[in-house]
Amino acid sequence: MSRTAPEVLITEEAIRRRVGRLGRRISKDYAQVENLHLIGVLRGSFIFLADLSRALTIPRSVDFLAMASYGTDVVRKGPARLVTDLRSDIRGKHVLVVEDIVDTGETLDCLMSLLASRGPASLKCCALLSKPARRKTEARVDYLGFEIPDVWVVGYGLDDEERYRALPYIGIPSR
Ligand code: IMP
Ligand code: MG
Repeated sequence: MSRTAPEVLITEEAIRRRVGRLGRRISKDYAQVENLHLIGVLRGSFIFLADLSRALTIPRSVDFLAMASYGTDVVRKGPARLVTDLRSDIRGKHVLVVEDIVDTGETLDCLMSLLASRGPASLKCCALLSKPARRKTEARVDYLGFEIPDVWVVGYGLDDEERYRALPYIGIPSR
């Protein structure tokens, strides 16, 4: 187990500023809506969702689901599947999916078609990070924090085999 702290890719301060801006933009875009229903994709998005939800100035509610891919975490062998479902129905609601990172886009693709089939009033996605070089699907991210290169990152909710989730910045672990 490596003891060197992951190399900083995105600082805590840069994340704070970006999340604040995303919150202001989303609040403006949904200003006319009665309630925005945030859906956090477990587990990686829990810290981002906590900060983003507090950066919003509009009425909002929160629910969670969990996805897993059929392959192992690193080698992807197929599409993602739902492993924990939402608590409440999303029919007629304005839904914003909150993701930690969009990599190949397979998880988001599967998730968005599943949620679309449940008849929300609107359905968009906000992701903290995106690795465009790895994209294999059309998966559209409506609100994005940062584009990053094709490197494995940790921190601010993201893990490397459960390590580093609580790191306050986005970093690159030494392997
Ligand atoms: P996708 O289906 O290939 O887009 O993978 C998305 C999921 O893979 C994310 O929600 C993360 O859980 C995980 N993931 C992808 N890249 C990273 C990374 O660099 N660090 C940590 N988790 C990652
Ligand atoms: Mg995720």
